[in-house]
Amino acid sequence: MAEARPELFDQVVNLCKRRGFVFPSAEIYGGFRSTYDYGPVGVLMLRNVKDAWWRSMVQMRHDVVGLDASILSPPQVWEASGHLSNFTDPLVDCKECGQRFREDTLDDPNTCPNCGTKNSFTEAREFNLMFKTEAGPVAGKGAEAYLRPETAQGMFVNFSNVQNTTRKKPPFGIAQIGKSFRNEITPGNFVFRTREFEQMEMEYFVPPEEADQWYEYWCDARMQWYVDHGMNPEALRLRPHDEDELSHYSSSTSDVEFMFPWGWGELEGIANRGDYDLKQHAEHSGKALDFFDQAGERRYVPHVIEPAAGATRTMMAFLMDAYHEDVVNDEKRTVLKLHPRIAPYTAAVLPLSKKAELSGPAQKLFADLAGHFNTDYDETQNIGKRYRRQDEIGTPFCVTFDFDSLEDGAVTIRERDTTAQERISIEGVAAWINDKI
Ligand code: GAP
Repeated sequence: MAEARPELFDQVVNLCKRRGFVFPSAEIYGGFRSTYDYGPVGVLMLRNVKDAWWRSMVQMRHDVVGLDASILSPPQVWEASGHLSNFTDPLVDCKECGQRFREDTLDDPNTCPNCGTKNSFTEAREFNLMFKTEAGPVAGKGAEAYLRPETAQGMFVNFSNVQNTTRKKPPFGIAQIGKSFRNEITPGNFVFRTREFEQMEMEYFVPPEEADQWYEYWCDARMQWYVDHGMNPEALRLRPHDEDELSHYSSSTSDVEFMFPWGWGELEGIANRGDYDLKQHAEHSGKALDFFDQAGERRYVPHVIEPAAGATRTMMAFLMDAYHEDVVNDEKRTVLKLHPRIAPYTAAVLPLSKKAELSGPAQKLFADLAGHFNTDYDETQNIGKRYRRQDEIGTPFCVTFDFDSLEDGAVTIRERDTTAQERISIEGVAAWINDKI
C-alpha cells in the first residue's frame, strides 16, 4: 500500500510553475483566491485527461452519448435537484478574531484555530455553496441564475431530449465534461479543491432492478480506468461511504481515492442515485421523465448510476503519481513517468544542431508527427539538457535528428523511462510511436 509523501506536494507544485503546467491566476496582481490557469503544457495534459475519459466513456461505447449543457441555469433546476436547500456547509465565526470556519472541519469545535480563544464561536449558519448571479439587464426576481455546481443536472433535465432523439433504451448513459463552480469555504491543496474546476460525469440510466449490478460494474470499470492510464494500483483504493456520509440523493456511493501527499483523497464518486433526480425534475417541471418499455409493456422511471470525476483533480493525481527523481549517467534527473496518452507531448523532435541543413528536414519530420499526436520541437541548448527538459514534462519519446540522418535516412528515438535508444528509419517513426502507445 502506498504511503503519504508530504515532500511531493511542493516538488510537484514547483514543477508545475517552472515548466508551465499550472500558474496561479492573475498572478501579476498577487493571484486570485485559489484560482489557477493551465499553461502551455498543462492545457495539453488536461485535454489528454479529458480525451482519455471521453474515449473510454463515450467513443468506445455504443450505449453512452455525449452532451454539452449550459453552465448558467435557472433556480428551478436547483430547487428540484435539492441544491438550494441541501448544498450547504455549516459556518461559524470567531467573535474574537472575526475568522470564519467550516464547523465540520474543526479539530476542536470549541477552540478557534486562528487565535486560540475558547467558546468564541457564533451559532453555525448554513452557507450555500452555489454562485448566484443575474442574467439579463434587469436585476431582481426572474433574473436570478446560478453557475452550476455539478454538470449532472444538465443530463437529467435533457433526459427526454436525448432519449427521444437517440432512441436509446435503458441501460444507456449521457456523459458530459465541463466546468463547475462551488463557493468552497476552504479551497486548497493546489488544484485539489478550487472554486472553479472541471468535472467528467456520466449518468447511466437503468431499469430499477438492474441498479445494483450496474453500480458494481461502474465501480470496477472506473477503478480500472486509472490503472489503464498508468496510475500505480497501490496508490488507489475504492472506499464505500458510511451511511452518514451519503449525499441527499444517494442510496450507495463509493469513492475512488488516491494517496495524495497528505493522505487518501477523493478522485471520483460512483453513486447510485436511484430515481431521485428524474422524479424531482418531473414533479417540479410537470413534464414526464420516464421510459416506456415496449417489450416488457411497462412504464418506469429509470434509476441512475453516476460515475462523477474531477478532471483538474485527476490531472493533479496523475502528476503526483508520475513524479520521480532518479540518476542517469551520474546525474540527478526529474522525470514524469506519465502514460503516453496522458503526457502533454507524445514526442519531441530534437535536431542535433540549429544549422539549416538539419533544422529543415527536422521540421519536416515535426510536421509529419504533429499530424498524429502532440509533438514538441526544440533546438536550443545541448542535447543532454534538452532530454532533461523533456523528461521533466513527461515526453515519452525524443527523436534526435543528427548529421548521419542526412546520409542514412534514420533518426534515434530515446525512451524516457529506460533512456534506451533505437535507430529507426524516418518514414517509420510515426508508425513506431503509434505502435508503442
Ligand atoms: N454529480 C455528483 C458530484 O458532483 P462530487 O463528489 O461533489 O459529486 C465529483 O464531485 C468530483 O468532482 C469529485 O470527486 C472531485 O474529483 C471533483 N470536485 C468536486 N469538488 C471539487 C472542487 N471544489 N475542486 C476540484 N474538484 C472538485
